[in-house]
Amino acid sequence: RHHTMKIAILGSGYVGIVTGIGFAELGHEIVFIDVDERKVEMLNSSKPPIYERGLEELMKKNRGKYRATTDYREALESSELTFICVGTPSKGDGSIDLKYAESASKEIGKALKNNDNFHVVVVKSTVVPGTTEDKIKPIIEKESGKKAFEDFGLAMNPEFLREGNAVYDFFNPDRIVIGVKDERTKSVLEELYKPFDCPKLITEIKTAEMIKYASNAFLATKISFANEIGNICKKLRIDVYKVFEGVGLDHRINPSFFRAGIGFGGSCFPKDVRALIRKSEELGENPKILKAVMEVNERQPLKMIELLKKHIPNLRGKKIGVLGLAFKPDTDDVRESRAIPIVKALLEEGAEIIAYDPKAIENFRKFFPQVEYANSAEDVITKSDAVLIVTEWKEFEELDYSGKIVIDGRRVEKAMKEAKIYKGVCW
Ligand code: UDX
Repeated sequence: RHHTMKIAILGSGYVGIVTGIGFAELGHEIVFIDVDERKVEMLNSSKPPIYERGLEELMKKNRGKYRATTDYREALESSELTFICVGTPSKGDGSIDLKYAESASKEIGKALKNNDNFHVVVVKSTVVPGTTEDKIKPIIEKESGKKAFEDFGLAMNPEFLREGNAVYDFFNPDRIVIGVKDERTKSVLEELYKPFDCPKLITEIKTAEMIKYASNAFLATKISFANEIGNICKKLRIDVYKVFEGVGLDHRINPSFFRAGIGFGGSCFPKDVRALIRKSEELGENPKILKAVMEVNERQPLKMIELLKKHIPNLRGKKIGVLGLAFKPDTDDVRESRAIPIVKALLEEGAEIIAYDPKAIENFRKFFPQVEYANSAEDVITKSDAVLIVTEWKEFEELDYSGKIVIDGRRVEKAMKEAKIYKGVCW
């Protein structure tokens, strides 16, 4: 049997919680740290503060193997390893905001001051290359009076969890990337990740940081590329889905992440691509591909409005149905959802909106209280002059679209067959 580790999780967002509960399931002892008392209380009563498939069951099952607290000092002093899982949001200019990572580092430094054990600090938050060694390390060293890689360990270990599949992804990763410098930290992390049967890549710390950005930027590029080819296909009356079926059969390319439509949203892709753009500009580079990826992604949702206006030239006073508000199906998350620019544009055109989403209405309402929210997708269809499909929820495959004008941003086959007037955004 493996050695049970005492692990602190600093930052109880979706990455922190899934990682912590995952390691609890593998037999480790977890303490979650968060400034948000509501989250701490929920975790302590085995209630997930976020919705993530399979998480609640896993929390109930492992109750007793984890606890949560707002007390940094006590939690860090009683553990051997800390994962930094705080958010790294965008600043106004797109660059990465490290304020949470920096204050976490300060707290860790303070807690390590009187701690004579070799404590391992692992950065899991997505941070631009160089951050762990140039920003986090000096803060911990200054506050603790100790030396990294000698008195305490420091490593960078990015996560590749998809929202909605995060629990599955935790236990079934394609790879594990560990950026380390000192041997002791390396062996602690190798031991921790021993139960996982997948390629494990040991790299320099800044290389691990870059792997995360390059992965997300590549996936975002795949989507914008599919959308660009889709826009050309539409003019040529070619089915872009067939095209990428053919393209994806090349083993060097792979078929996934080629679903053309209105582009990517979520808490990672837009933020990470922007942060990488800013970082490379800071270094005197002009990252043309990355900029184009974002440009295509910003233009793509507005194509829905263009198509709609071909059939209803004046949207003033017209009732437009919006199906789907979450940035993707099976989540209540609306961060950077393509529904945001679409609803904004519709409101600017003077349209009335009736919207529905199985999970994300409450989150969306905070941004757009003036929108009418329906109780069901059927309601949206009956009460609107035209329907826009923005998120491909499974239940939208079951609806009756006959007699409607439908502008589809996500390729719902049923709508394609039944709608009176059907327009796919790039097919
Ligand atoms: C992503 C990465 O997949 C994950 O590895 C990383 O750690 C965090 O970011 P997530 O944000 O949960 O995960 O969403 P994902 O399922 O990857 O989808 C992102 C966006 O791309 C969604 O808005 C989705 O609709 C869009 N998308 C995805 C497409 O438009 N076409 C595709 O083919 C795939």
